[in-house]
Amino acid sequence: MKELKINTPSAEYPIYITDNFGGLTGALKKAGLEGRKLCIITDSNVAPIYLESIKDLLGEWEISSYIFKAGEESKQLDTIRDFYMHFLNEKLDRRSVLIALGGGVTGDMTGFAAATYLRGIPFIQIPTTLLAQVDSSVGGKTGVDLLGNKNMVGAFYQPKLVYINHKTLGTLPYKQVAAGLAEAVKTAYIADRELLEYFDKNKAKIKVLSDEEISHVIYECCKAKAYVVDQDEKESGLREILNFGHTFGHAIEMLSGFELLHGECVSVGMVAAMRLNALMGQTSESELKHMEELLSFFDLPIKANGFDTQTVYEQMFYDKKTKNGRLNLVLLKETGSAYTEKNADGADIKAAIDYITTE
Ligand SMILES: NC(=O)c1ccc[n+]([C@@H]2O[C@H](COP(=O)([O-])OP(=O)(O)OC[C@H]3O[C@@H](n4cnc5c(N)ncnc54)[C@H](O)[C@@H]3O)[C@@H](O)[C@H]2O)c1
Ligand SMILES: [Zn+2]
Repeated sequence: MKELKINTPSAEYPIYITDNFGGLTGALKKAGLEGRKLCIITDSNVAPIYLESIKDLLGEWEISSYIFKAGEESKQLDTIRDFYMHFLNEKLDRRSVLIALGGGVTGDMTGFAAATYLRGIPFIQIPTTLLAQVDSSVGGKTGVDLLGNKNMVGAFYQPKLVYINHKTLGTLPYKQVAAGLAEAVKTAYIADRELLEYFDKNKAKIKVLSDEEISHVIYECCKAKAYVVDQDEKESGLREILNFGHTFGHAIEMLSGFELLHGECVSVGMVAAMRLNALMGQTSESELKHMEELLSFFDLPIKANGFDTQTVYEQMFYDKKTKNGRLNLVLLKETGSAYTEKNADGADIKAAIDYITTE
C-alpha cells in the first residue's frame, strides 16, 4: 500500500493507493472514525458490483446506504435533496460519516452533501473510476450542475481520507478508463515530464491496467495534484494549471450536449491548447504530434470534426474561469511546466480551434 498526504490550510488527510479493500477498516480507525454511524452513497452501476462486499467489510460499524441512478444527469440538487431525506430517516448526526463509493459524480455529490448537511459532516472517498482516482477524489472540490451548467453550485470541502483500490478499474468500461487517462496525460504535460516519459515507455501496459504501471500513474497523478492543491486550495492561482485543455474542452463538451465524455473533451482540448502553444512558439510541432500519438494510442479523440470554429470560440467565453471578458488559457512554457495566459491573440485561438475542427 502506497500513501500520500494532503496538507491544505483547512485539512490534512491521507490518500492510500492499493490493490484491495483489506486496509479500509484500518484506514477508518486511523482517521479516528471508529464507532461512527456510516452511510455509503453509490450509484446504480457501482452498487451491484461493490456495495455488499464493502458493507460486509465494515460489519463492525452501524451502516446504511443510498443508491442513486448512475450518470451525470443525476448530478443535481434534486438528488442531493434525496440524500438529505435519507440522512434524516437514518438520523445521521454531526459525527456520522458519508462514504462516496463510485466515480466523480458520486464523489462530487457526496462531498457536497457532506459539506452542507448539518453545516458539515465528515466524508471519505472510495473512487472507482480512473478519472476519480487520478483527479476528482483529491482536492476537495464538490458540487452539482445547475440547468445543464457544470459544477455551478458547490463547496471546497476536504475528505477525511481517500482510499484507492485500483483493482476496481477491472470492471470499468474501457471508454471510461481512457477518459481518466486523458486527465493523467494532462498531469504529465503540466507538471511532470518524467511521467510523460513513463507513459511513452509503458503505454501498452498502462492501457491494459497492468498493476504496477497503472498504480504508478495513479500515484504520480495524486502526488502532482496534492502538490498543487497544497499550494492553492481554493484556486486563486497555481491550481488553475489543472485546467490545461479544459477551456477548449468544456466548450466542446457543452456544444456536444454532453454526448462526449469529459475526458474525451479534455483530450481534444489539449490538442488545441498544444497547437496554440506551437503557434506562439512555446512548444514545437513535433511535440504536438507526440501528444496526438499518445492520446490516439489510448483511443482518445484528437479531433472534434463537425464543430464550428466561431461557435466553439464564443462558447469558450462562458467558461467559469473567464475573467472580465478575457480568456484565461492554461498553456505550456515547455512540456512539464504550465502557466495561465491571459493575452493570447484571438486569431491564434481561432486557428487552434480550426486545427481540431477540420480534418
Ligand atoms: N471534483 C473535482 O475536482 C473534479 C475533477 C474532474 C471531474 N470532476 C467531475 O467528475 C465527474 C466525472 O467523473 P467520472 O468520469 O468518474 O463519472 P461517473 O461517476 O459518472 O462514472 C462514470 C461511469 O462509470 C460507472 N462506474 C464507476 N465505477 C465503476 C466501476 N468500478 N466499474 C464499473 N462501472 C463503474 C458509473 O456508474 C458511471 O456510469 C463529472 O461530473 C466532473 O465534473 C470533478
Ligand atoms: Zn477535467
